[in-house]
Amino acid sequence: MSEWRPDNWRNMPIVQVPTYPDELELKKVEEELSSYPPLVFAGEARNLKAQLADVSAGKAFLLQGGDCAESFAEFHPNNIRDTFRVLLQMAVVLTFAASCPVVKVGRLAGQFAKPRSSDTETKDGVELPSYRGDIINGIAFDEASRVPDPRRMQRAYSQAAATLNLLRAFAQGGYANLLSVHKWNLDFVSQSGAGEKYRELADRIGEALSFMEACGINPADVRQLQGTDFYTSHEALLLGYEQALTRVDSTTGDWYDTSAHMLWVGDRTRQTNGAHLEFLRGVGNPIASKVGPTTDPDDLIRLIDILNPANEPGRLTLITRFGADKVETFLPSILRKVQSEGRHVVWSCDPMHGNTLSAGNGLKTRPFERILQEVKRVFAVHRAEGTYAGGIHLELTGQNVTECTGGAAAITEEGLSSRYHTHCDPRLNANQAIELAFLIAEALKEEREALGATVAA
Ligand code: PEP
Ligand code: CO
Repeated sequence: MSEWRPDNWRNMPIVQVPTYPDELELKKVEEELSSYPPLVFAGEARNLKAQLADVSAGKAFLLQGGDCAESFAEFHPNNIRDTFRVLLQMAVVLTFAASCPVVKVGRLAGQFAKPRSSDTETKDGVELPSYRGDIINGIAFDEASRVPDPRRMQRAYSQAAATLNLLRAFAQGGYANLLSVHKWNLDFVSQSGAGEKYRELADRIGEALSFMEACGINPADVRQLQGTDFYTSHEALLLGYEQALTRVDSTTGDWYDTSAHMLWVGDRTRQTNGAHLEFLRGVGNPIASKVGPTTDPDDLIRLIDILNPANEPGRLTLITRFGADKVETFLPSILRKVQSEGRHVVWSCDPMHGNTLSAGNGLKTRPFERILQEVKRVFAVHRAEGTYAGGIHLELTGQNVTECTGGAAAITEEGLSSRYHTHCDPRLNANQAIELAFLIAEALKEEREALGATVAA
């Protein structure tokens, strides 16, 4: 393949791009951004890649989650803390209940750009350009808000930097210390069934820590218990922004996109002759691609060849997202193809994007039951095919929102509007997320036992 440059994508066919009215201003902003400090370091991205290599070998599990779209309006330390906290709780459930190390990756600190199924949106006979995420235009339904404004990229950068700074503090500054495992239960969660189950699990972890102490190991001195590795990710959609943050790593001489540790290409932009793959193939970060129902298995091998020509374990994660009732139709042939071609990938499941529907009141929602179904079916198909269901990709928030119907609190379609805050797709609330974590832990434990049995046989 030809020599890669960070701007080669500009010569390739591209979809889902905003049309900025002032190109000079756009160029100026991109130039300014390219002189800003990197948000993450190449070495961190390499550490994540090494951990994902463990996932692809069946030795760990990937937990990736956060907002569908971060927004300027919802930027608040409590929101960041609560999303971090629910991911931490889910990770503890998975680590303890499935005895499996968990690689934690947020859809956070940069998840601002959104692909849209239509270029325009019509309300009461008025047609306006679609909202494309706060990094591009405004969500308010008026003409001025919907004009793409390049200065929004700088605001997104600043918000990502501040978010990342807080996440680093939470991960390493004491908040994530395992001795605090009880304190992570939020008030509204602790009163629910999932919260109670979590408390029981935290009690057992507490006992294990006391046991260690009685044996002469002080948990307060064990570095691995004092904090956690936490990584960031977002969809690499707005390539001008991604290019501006792409730098040569002085240690290796390789290019890295320093806007996040991990980047993914969405289901609408993964064309093998397109700009998004051209950009992503050249950066050293771990990369993911969504895999939806329109994926042709041969085409997927071409995508793998472009993104991971050296077949390096941990480099590429495939995030399948079919919809609960389509898993058996699409997943087996894809798994077989990738297996038979001997490609190392992490298989992750996004049970959100194939299960979106419109509620009676016009709000987008996702029935919790369908989300659970997709997860269960994906685990079952991997089990049947002898592949490892190594990860989960979720849209969630630590807030007590009502965006997905069902769950233990039995959110109804009528109840959706009471706390519906998402800027894009409906998210799991903390209760639903923890409930799901327990279900995954059970499936994962069985899967790991079955795989262990296969290896031993
Ligand atoms: C998303 O992850 O928010 C998204 C748009 O997903 P997909 O590309 O799978 O539709
Ligand atoms: Co989404």
